[in-house]
Amino acid sequence: MTEVAPHVLRPRIRTYKPRRSRISQRQSGAFGHQAAFLLPLSDEPLDLAEIWGEGVPVVLEIGFGTGLATAQMAAAKPGTGLLAVDIHTPGVGDLLFRIGDLPLANVRVMEADALTVLDAMIPAGALAGVRSYFPDPWPKARHHKRRLIQPDVLTLVADRLRPRGFWHIATDWDEYANAIRACFASDARWHGGVIDRPDDRPVTRYEGRALLEGRHVTDLLYEVGADDRMAS
Ligand SMILES: C[S@@+](CC[C@H](N)C(=O)[O-])C[C@H]1O[C@@H](n2cnc3c(N)ncnc32)[C@H](O)[C@@H]1O
Repeated sequence: MTEVAPHVLRPRIRTYKPRRSRISQRQSGAFGHQAAFLLPLSDEPLDLAEIWGEGVPVVLEIGFGTGLATAQMAAAKPGTGLLAVDIHTPGVGDLLFRIGDLPLANVRVMEADALTVLDAMIPAGALAGVRSYFPDPWPKARHHKRRLIQPDVLTLVADRLRPRGFWHIATDWDEYANAIRACFASDARWHGGVIDRPDDRPVTRYEGRALLEGRHVTDLLYEVGADDRMAS
């Protein structure tokens, strides 16, 4: 396992707010009916080829919310494996329900801290890409240590991506976007920057609300080990 500085994985400093939300009947039903799409948290590395097939590119989505973007993007690219990880139980139920509805054979879901999954279960060089759409911005300075995008996490993700693997991030928080750019700029393994909003990234409810409230959305795309991208 890659060494990750304790402030990232220390149990009481998390990138998410633990929430005690009620789970609906539909969400809890999906845990039963779609259990085949759920992967358990474990100390053992995942065999991505066994799950998705030899040579199939696999993308990790960190923090899918209700899974709206996850399901639509998975349906648009059935040849890409998608490992969708979120800590929030009702959202996991929502995504399981969406998967069963379509159905989406290329998606697997985990209810877990994605940093633990990356650290313990993803082999080095295994992923084609990572997506993080609207990671919690943690706007107060004293909470910045909880942000997903920070130097130790860049090290961990760089290790788990294959050469030229990508990390696509979207945020509605300008100050976080600038902090993300500074963080990637200080790590020579990564190249990229701000991109136009890709047409294939669906507008989630979270993004819709940010736009209604007048916040600007920034998409950022970085590749590991590449130096000829469109950086800005
Ligand atoms: C602001 S919401 C955005 C959700 C979704 N991507 C969207 O655009 O609607 C952030 C999500 O990230 C999840 N999250 C935060 N830290 C996480 C972590 N370390 N591992 C897994 N999920 C995480 C939260 O539970 C929440 O669902």
